[in-house]
Amino acid sequence: MVIREIREDKKRYLPLLLLADEQEDMIDRYLDRGRMYVLEEDGTKAVCVVTDEGDGILEIKNLAVEPPYQGRGYGRRLIEFAAQQYGGAFSTLQVGTGDSPLTIPFYEACGFSRSYLVSNFFTDHYDHPIFEGGKQLIDMVYLRRELHSDDGPA
Ligand SMILES: CC(C)(COP(=O)(O)OP(=O)(O)OC[C@H]1O[C@@H](n2cnc3c(N)ncnc32)[C@H](O)[C@@H]1OP(=O)(O)O)[C@@H](O)C(=O)NCCC(=O)NCCS
Repeated sequence: MVIREIREDKKRYLPLLLLADEQEDMIDRYLDRGRMYVLEEDGTKAVCVVTDEGDGILEIKNLAVEPPYQGRGYGRRLIEFAAQQYGGAFSTLQVGTGDSPLTIPFYEACGFSRSYLVSNFFTDHYDHPIFEGGKQLIDMVYLRRELHSDDGPA
């Protein structure tokens, strides 16, 4: 298994990125300024994009695992990779997600805690209603995990 950074032609991973963020023009808001990593094991299995939000905050803007390979630890591997890679330079790893039973428990299992809400984010910024797990996403829920310079190896 290798995790490698993608610097060119990031849009070739668009089908995977759209699993986590289904509107392309929302992805365009962070793709260029973000750093993108892919996890490869017999082909690409997962992707993540992180951005520097200032004040020591690194944000996971996109994290997606190919559907047949979800639930096998790849998502957690990318979180731990980011924590290890950026633990010295950033104090907080942050993620914003819909209030969904498919994502919040995953981030909580990976050491994140709920931090704050941005009300009506999905209804204000997306051009169509977004549903996940049968529920419409309305607010953006931000979760945070502290980073340490000695966060374990990926
Ligand atoms: C959400 C997602 C990134 C998780 O990645 P994954 O590889 O499937 O998750 P992992 O196998 O690494 O799971 C890590 C832990 O989270 C837990 N977990 C994952 N999904 C869960 C869920 N829906 N409910 C409860 N626990 C969950 C796992 O049980 C595991 O816990 P454990 O290690 O203590 O056993 C992946 O399912 C995905 O790509 N979903 C579609 C895109 C998406 O919604 N991305 C997030 C946008 S913010």
